[in-house]
Amino acid sequence: MTDRHDAQAEHDAEGQAQFDALIDADSRIEPRDWMPAAYRKTLLRQISQHAHSEIIGMQPEANWITRAPSLKRKSILIAKVQDEAGHGLYLYSAAETLGQSRHEMMDDLLAGKAKYSSIFNYPARTWADMGAIGWLVDGAAICNQVPLCRASYGPYGRAMVRICKEESFHQRQGFEILLELANGTPEQRQMAQDAVNRWYAPALMMFGPPDDESPNSQQSMAWKIKRFSNDELRQRFLGMMVEQVTVLGLELPDKDIRFNEETGKWEHGPLDWAEFWRVIGGSGPCNAQRMERRRDAHAEGAWVREAAAAYAAKQAARAAEKEKAA
Ligand code: 3HC
Repeated sequence: MTDRHDAQAEHDAEGQAQFDALIDADSRIEPRDWMPAAYRKTLLRQISQHAHSEIIGMQPEANWITRAPSLKRKSILIAKVQDEAGHGLYLYSAAETLGQSRHEMMDDLLAGKAKYSSIFNYPARTWADMGAIGWLVDGAAICNQVPLCRASYGPYGRAMVRICKEESFHQRQGFEILLELANGTPEQRQMAQDAVNRWYAPALMMFGPPDDESPNSQQSMAWKIKRFSNDELRQRFLGMMVEQVTVLGLELPDKDIRFNEETGKWEHGPLDWAEFWRVIGGSGPCNAQRMERRRDAHAEGAWVREAAAAYAAKQAARAAEKEKAA
């Protein structure tokens, strides 16, 4: 018993030393490498939440596919929503390499045990919201996710490279929708401004709570999963938006935005963090609707999963027969 314990302790100490060396060298941890249980747990938490966000995030925009104002806009929006589904699938695959099945992750989401991004619990009221979501929400996503391409866990970082390329197209299509509306009739311009007004604060809150209220940041940064803190990324995003909004000829709904010469950072006005925690806790404007639609879609897709499983079983049985005969 003691021998086995000693051997395990020695194995863990060796594994920890190798893990620490890889992190120090800014190298990558791969699925078969030894890793601390807490590192695995943190990754599973973050990657599965991220995957759920991509899947739930399809809903506000999918609602507008049938109402897009032209064939061109409709095809672009369909492509974007399909991309989000693809992002979810890459991320579920990356999370599966850590030892949890997609089935279990989905069960946690459907049971309301797993989080997904706060931003997707807000309604998309007008066509201009497709512009504001693309520009602000996908813009915030890029800002947060480009550093994740260098995340210390290999499968996560590699999935993020492709995702970020697609997010850039998403942001540009949103910007272009807003640009066209901003240069349209006074009503269209107002519609664009209203959408920016509604999505601005929730987009800033996507980066997570302020650093002094973020329980996970410090450890995640030490493990080089996160490369920057929530506030650092929020400030960087704000600086980008301040420049881009001038091209749109619109305004950000925040009279307190300023560049602090001393710190070299952009600052914004107060955000309603009580609202953020309410939304995360399930009481946002659309939480119930988003979850109901997700559960319905899962139930309606049962026949596809059953057919795929039956086909895979048939293929496996045939392969086994062939092997036996050979
Ligand atoms: N929405 C919901 N929950 C959030 C949140 C948000 N915007 N921000 C933070 N939280 C949660 C955290 O998950 C954590 O909860 P938990 O401990 O129960 O898991 C808690 O609030 C405290 O926050 P921390 O700052 O300590 O948490 P993290 O260190 O994990 O940082 C994060 C939060 C910055 C969102 C980080 O997890 C991250 O970078 N995740 C990857 C990116 C991601 O998931 N983006 C979601 C949007 S997807 C998207 O944008 C799709 C695109 O197509 C638009």
